[in-house]
Amino acid sequence: MAKILVIHGPNLNVLGIREPEHYGHTTLADIDQRLQELASRDGHNLESFQSNAEHALIEKIQTAVREADRIIINPAGLTHTSVALRDALLAAGIPFVEVHLSNIHARDPFREHSYFSDAAMGVVSGFGPLSYELAYRAAVGSLTAKD
Ligand code: DQA
Repeated sequence: MAKILVIHGPNLNVLGIREPEHYGHTTLADIDQRLQELASRDGHNLESFQSNAEHALIEKIQTAVREADRIIINPAGLTHTSVALRDALLAAGIPFVEVHLSNIHARDPFREHSYFSDAAMGVVSGFGPLSYELAYRAAVGSLTAKD
């Protein structure tokens, strides 16, 4: 049984009502429930954590060092700004998948740069809630992949 930590950054708590043209109508609770279903079906332990505070996200990652096998993270707006959150992931040394609901390469130019992508196992961006499901499959698949 693996432990998967899902981290949602700022403003993702208001998914469903927030800019639906970019993020759709699915709520964060819906996304977390779906991930929870997938994990229990696979016999894995999955924990979701959302915060609007950068320090809380960093502290969660520091705590996970002794616990999580994989991290799935949507850094949200911090994707484009946070060296500190990136450093926390690198310090933890836990392989992570970066996920975005929207395609960050098809929006404002300032969203094109991510402080996370080069350090991530991979990036899933642009598939709405399905992005999380794909990220989950990638994270879990990498636990057993032989090549
Ligand atoms: C986002 C994309 C970011 O640019 C934005 O700041 C978000 C959400 C996404 O999931 O598409 O808050 O990470």
